[in-house]
Amino acid sequence: MSSRGGLLFDGSRPAGRSPGSPVPLGFLVSGRGSNLEAILAAVERGELPAEPRLVLSDRAGVRALEVARAHGVPAQVLERREFPDREAYERALAGRFLERGVELCAMAGFLRLVGTAFLEALGGRVTNVHPSLLPAFPGLEAQRQALEYGVRVAGCTVHFVDEEMDHGPIILQAAVPVLDEDTPESLADRILREEHRIYPEAIRLYALDRLRIRGRRVLQLPET
Ligand code: GRF
Repeated sequence: MSSRGGLLFDGSRPAGRSPGSPVPLGFLVSGRGSNLEAILAAVERGELPAEPRLVLSDRAGVRALEVARAHGVPAQVLERREFPDREAYERALAGRFLERGVELCAMAGFLRLVGTAFLEALGGRVTNVHPSLLPAFPGLEAQRQALEYGVRVAGCTVHFVDEEMDHGPIILQAAVPVLDEDTPESLADRILREEHRIYPEAIRLYALDRLRIRGRRVLQLPET
């Protein structure tokens, strides 16, 4: 899937999972966990055919771990400093997911880049949410960047992950207006409500095997 190494997969479910069966999901988190919460709530409401199997955090004591436990999803902390290098760390993260049969890993506020070791282990089935209309404003503090630039429309993006930051093929985007009185916080809140809507929807489309990656584009197959 990387722009360097070619696509790792075409968006479709693996041959081993039958159509309509729940997707075994893993999550990478670092903080508040509100996207994790939105996805778990969508699963619980029966809107998203998925089985949350494991939440991994790179830091202890964060709210996302409480969210996981409150929803009965196993949660573990794996810190980067426990490993000699990034590749060993990523192999360990991927290993924990694979042990539990995770098919798709949703990054939800994970404050690290993942690289080839992780993406290859998961066969490229890794998604992320970013609080801007990519390719505008990648990286940290995207909402502040948007305000400072002066855009009148901001938003969020759910995308497949490749080796470059906030770069992989785009699954869904949602736009929100920027208001004159906005602060980075008020804009972030407005964007976050859309993240909570489109991240579960993007995973639902994947779960229903309706996504196909064609170059940089992610096409949506019609509902069957
Ligand atoms: C979200 O704004 C997401 O777009 C960005 O990090 C934030 C995570 O929030 N990648 P949460 O941990 O899901 O509440």
